[in-house]
Amino acid sequence: MKPFLIAPSILAADFARLGEEVENVLAAGADIVHFDVMDNHYVPNLSFGPMVCKALRDYGISAEIDVHLMVKPVDAIIPQFAQAGASIITFHAEASEHIDRSLQLIKSEGCKAGLVFNPATPLHYLDHVMDKLDMILLMSVNPGFGGQSFIPATLDKIRLVRERIDKSGFDIRLEVDGGIGAHNIAEVASAGADVFVAGSAIFNQDNYQTAIDEMRQQLGN
Ligand code: DX5
Ligand code: ZN
Repeated sequence: MKPFLIAPSILAADFARLGEEVENVLAAGADIVHFDVMDNHYVPNLSFGPMVCKALRDYGISAEIDVHLMVKPVDAIIPQFAQAGASIITFHAEASEHIDRSLQLIKSEGCKAGLVFNPATPLHYLDHVMDKLDMILLMSVNPGFGGQSFIPATLDKIRLVRERIDKSGFDIRLEVDGGIGAHNIAEVASAGADVFVAGSAIFNQDNYQTAIDEMRQQLGN
């Protein structure tokens, strides 16, 4: 199993001090930056675009930026995020007319590629693209907002995807996103996840170091 990665979702950060917030959470031990892009079309909320990703790079953030596209369509914005400094770009299976082409586009732009599954999205979208995936992102909440509660039914889905990844032999990360914190991260890890998105469980706490340390303690690393 790969080392566990903690990915703070900056949707829960103080946008007025975003560069500082990201710096602080990385200094507190976070591994990658989860960058939630919302278009108020695919999801009923609006967040930020490639310019903010570039601003973080210009500010000096060198950690991997994990861009979660909650947008439809996806293709046109992929090159913009790649040029703005994205490291990983994931998109929702239902948001692309041609999943294979969108995955190839991400790779051709030099980024790692991933597919996102909402709680009710069936896993058959994986059937013909496992060889093109660097990441599978399972939503444990319905996309669009931070601070929601973890959907327990996701645990079975995580187990099924872990099985598929291990059987495939491909080097694919299993990221879970939504309602994750010290209270449930061990359970999510034992189901088979190795990348954990946490927004409110980190940014809503006074001390980011304590919040991340508690999650790491639960993970046993
Ligand atoms: C929801 C986003 C999540 C969310 C996580 O659509 O994709 O990344 O910001 O926030 P928490 O950890 O507070 O559920
Ligand atoms: Zn997300």
